[in-house]
Amino acid sequence: MSQKVDLVIFGGTGDLSTRKLLPALYQLQRHNLADRLNRIIATGRGEMETGAFRLEAQANLEKYLPRENWDESVWEAFRDRLEYVKIDADNADDYRQLARLLGTADTAGRLYYLATLPSLYGEICQQLQDAGVVNDASRVVLEKPLGHDLESCRSINQQVARVFDEEATFRIDHYLGKETVQNLLALRFGNQLFHPMWNNTFISSVQITVAEEIGVAGRGSYYADTGALRDMVQNHLLQVLSLVAMEPPATLKATDIRDEKMKVLRCLEPITESNVKERTVRGRYTAGAVGGRAVKGFLEEDAFHDAENTETFVALKASINNWRWAGVPFYLRTGKRLSRRYSEIVIEYRQQPFSLFANDPQELTNKLVIHLQPEESISLHTVNKKPGLTSKLRLQPVELHLTDESQNKRDKYDAYERLLLDAIHGDQTLFMRRDEVETAWHWIDSIIAAWDDNGSAIKPYNAGTMGPNAATALIAVDGRSWHE
Ligand SMILES: NC(=O)c1ccc[n+]([C@@H]2O[C@H](COP(=O)([O-])OP(=O)(O)OC[C@H]3O[C@@H](n4cnc5c(N)ncnc54)[C@H](OP(=O)(O)O)[C@@H]3O)[C@@H](O)[C@H]2O)c1
Repeated sequence: MSQKVDLVIFGGTGDLSTRKLLPALYQLQRHNLADRLNRIIATGRGEMETGAFRLEAQANLEKYLPRENWDESVWEAFRDRLEYVKIDADNADDYRQLARLLGTADTAGRLYYLATLPSLYGEICQQLQDAGVVNDASRVVLEKPLGHDLESCRSINQQVARVFDEEATFRIDHYLGKETVQNLLALRFGNQLFHPMWNNTFISSVQITVAEEIGVAGRGSYYADTGALRDMVQNHLLQVLSLVAMEPPATLKATDIRDEKMKVLRCLEPITESNVKERTVRGRYTAGAVGGRAVKGFLEEDAFHDAENTETFVALKASINNWRWAGVPFYLRTGKRLSRRYSEIVIEYRQQPFSLFANDPQELTNKLVIHLQPEESISLHTVNKKPGLTSKLRLQPVELHLTDESQNKRDKYDAYERLLLDAIHGDQTLFMRRDEVETAWHWIDSIIAAWDDNGSAIKPYNAGTMGPNAATALIAVDGRSWHE
């Protein structure tokens, strides 16, 4: 479809919309990338005039956008696109109101962004269909979490599929919108240099870390029932893992890339009762200090007194059983209230078969480090000769930076800008397909079942550290350490 698209945001008054979606849409307008976008219709349960919503949106945009990005003329053009409609998810009359605004033309482009409770997704889709506002040119964007386990995920997917085809369904994982994650494709498949060495002959291990300083205050019962494995590993970490490990796709089209990611997920060796103790570590933060500020422990937070079976940290060792990756451990870890906020992928190369510099303290194994946040960059850790007239050839470490910093600063954008733009244009490449999400849940469910059967202990760690000691031991038994 190449016509203009009306974007309807369910949850348009919520936190995600306020902090991320509306600022991202404003930025698209600022960069003159919103030509395919028509109206932006925000919905919430409260009665509100569009004028009042626009005022609220302006205040929030001024709060959440970098000051230098505020431009009165951009805002005026953006403001004119904004509408507000009151919709309670199960109230058919409210959808009729929406239909009056949208019209019921068969060909009008519509994008429904569901940024509300996932338990409402099925109901909202059905009501949209009943109101006659779903046509062949309509698409739906689904925010995470897509279920709590495989069964609930399937149930949401089935309900949505009654109304929207898979080609019209866009499942968000905002990690896929990050420039450096997409850069992985360019790095791996655009360079002759890396591709021949991207396998178990040359690579000894892969680490993926997503470390957060923030705790879980404000996420109440949702986090108590979820924990780090479901909240982060099932989606972000497994998506990144599949992009790192996938085979070269036939083309850069969405189907081909998603087919290859899917094969990786299918090759993940199950973690079961027999190996869960060696392969996983669960942790939970106790009181400590993060960024120089004292913070409470997880169980001391009002909403989490009883959440004794919820982990705020998980580390695990995954294996991908295929020809390329057999014997290469993929170490994943993520947690809350860690010492600093950063996400990175570390590709560690094997040592040379024989070293001429065996006694040199600077001898190192080469690493390719892909930083995803807070800064996005790629660097290759190598050695060269220490300069000078010394009689002996000495080594010194050198980091080769593979990103163009000046361009990075100039073209920096938020992941939601990329993903909203792609959804408006109908490009599914950076969105998760149903089989990917369900296969990921299948693998995660096995770990959770093994934890339940094994009575796996959750290890405490002080807030402001990098997790429990057991996470260090998980990788140390293989003669390795986490890249810090
Ligand atoms: N916030 C984030 O950073 C973030 C990140 C990733 C994913 N997500 C996901 O995005 C979704 C929204 O999160 P959020 O943090 O924005 O939640 P939130 O701040 O609690 O907002 C919820 C939104 O849903 C609307 N809503 C609630 N019940 C409704 C109902 N019965 N019918 C119609 N609308 C209803 C609310 O409207 P009113 O209250 O105005 O009626 C509000 O706009 C969730 O699925 C969340 O997991 C959020």
